[in-house]
Amino acid sequence: MPWKDTATGYGWMSIALHWITAVWITLLLFYGNSIGALLGADRSDAIVRHTSIAITGYVLLWLRVGWRFYFGHPAATQKQRGAAFTLGKWIHLTMLVAVGLMLISGPLMVWSRGDDIVVFDWFVLSTPMATSFALSDFCSRVHTGSALVIFLGILLHLGGVYKHLAFNQDGTFTKILIPSKPSGDDSCSD
Ligand code: HEM
Ligand code: HEM
Repeated sequence: MPWKDTATGYGWMSIALHWITAVWITLLLFYGNSIGALLGADRSDAIVRHTSIAITGYVLLWLRVGWRFYFGHPAATQKQRGAAFTLGKWIHLTMLVAVGLMLISGPLMVWSRGDDIVVFDWFVLSTPMATSFALSDFCSRVHTGSALVIFLGILLHLGGVYKHLAFNQDGTFTKILIPSKPSGDDSCSD
């Protein structure tokens, strides 16, 4: 079973991580964004929902970021070469850095304002640090900024996918659905 990436394509591990965490990140963006519009108990419930989803997927999300930076981004296939591929690659890496920043800034933001992280009604991660509203405020800005980067990244990402599917038909979409074989990566098409 080709679970590792090849020189120009993705293996099962990357494909599984991409799709599972794509759903997770979309949910986190959606629930995170809803927090700002709420007050009182509704706001507290929304924060618990958001932090619970974040902590449940925490290790998986780090695995996804670590996997890409450890193994590197697959190179372009014969059909993909060009500036658009390089742009796409940098958008991917920027989104992953932003995900890493979300995973650091989220817990620090909660803990440094003196709160505990509640994960459903399963367990609580008590704050291990002294209260610092300056740090909490800084982390909050990083969290909001990184969320915006991910959101814009996803819009560009989906625009790129549409371009590849509708106009280029160069196998880009197939790459993230079917694992590449060590040879013949260039032969797939959408
Ligand atoms: C990839 C992971 C994550 C994504 C995409 C994400 C996304 C978001 C978004 C979009 C917001 C709204 C930002 C705003 O309106 O300023 C938000 C807020 C928040 N996030 Fe996350 N988040 C992630 C991880 C985490 C983690 C790991 C924690 C903590 C365990 C966390 C805790 C919070 C809290 C407490 C808020 C509300 C901030 C407030 O009080 O206004 N997030 N998140
Ligand atoms: C319906 C939704 C999505 C579609 C159709 C889609 C499609 C694709 C495709 C075709 C590629 C391969 C591009 C290439 O390597 O040339 C890819 C890679 C990638 N996608 Fe998505 N994607 C979706 C959602 C997301 C979301 C929500 C994220 C959020 C972070 C994301 C992040 C990435 C990243 C970082 C890569 C680079 C490879 C990797 O590290 O997994 N994608 N996607």
